[in-house]
Amino acid sequence: MNKKNILLLTGSPRRNGNSDRMADAFIKGVLSAGHKVTKFETARKDISGCRACKTCWSKGKPCSFQDDFDELAPLLEAADVIVFCTPLYWFSFSTQIKAAIDKMYAYVGKSCKRSLNIKESLLLVCGADEDMEVFDGIRATYQGIAHYMKWEDKGVLAVPKVNEKGAIEATDALVKAEALGLALRV
Ligand SMILES: Cc1cc2nc3c(=O)[nH]c(=O)nc-3n(C[C@H](O)[C@H](O)[C@H](O)COP(=O)(O)O)c2cc1C
Repeated sequence: MNKKNILLLTGSPRRNGNSDRMADAFIKGVLSAGHKVTKFETARKDISGCRACKTCWSKGKPCSFQDDFDELAPLLEAADVIVFCTPLYWFSFSTQIKAAIDKMYAYVGKSCKRSLNIKESLLLVCGADEDMEVFDGIRATYQGIAHYMKWEDKGVLAVPKVNEKGAIEATDALVKAEALGLALRV
């Protein structure tokens, strides 16, 4: 089996919240499949938004402004698979995970010095609303990013009707998240 290096970015500031539990279920699946996984909790890091200075790499590192993206950059460069696991905030990604995504500009812009080897991606997202249409925006954004980056979309798990911390335990989402992780076997 081809052992994959999976980078899982979480977006929630809530410890052991719904998306965090989904991330851990997914990790259980990928570990059973024999892969290596790194969980990077963007909401526990200090990553500011891209300032569009277009000076990526001018100081020898992806972003000219020092923050915890310096810690994320080598993980991105080593990853084969990237997973975004976020609560739905205003029909989209949480600000914390979006800031990390924005700084990936260093790997696509004109001044790009290094490329990423990521081949596959997934999105795990949960929200309070019961209407599945509320996920249309984040799904389209994620799929746009995956298409632009030439990542093969390995799945979107969108979980409605979870609001209180732990509410996800009463759904089948954790079983589904684990199965998605396990499915990365092939
Ligand atoms: C700032 C903020 C914005 C939110 N926006 C939405 C939204 O647009 N749609 C929705 O269904 N739920 C929304 N929610 C609810 C969360 O997505 C929901 O509580 C989710 O289960 C939280 O996941 P977590 O426990 O991983 O943080 C929002 C919550 C917060 C705090």
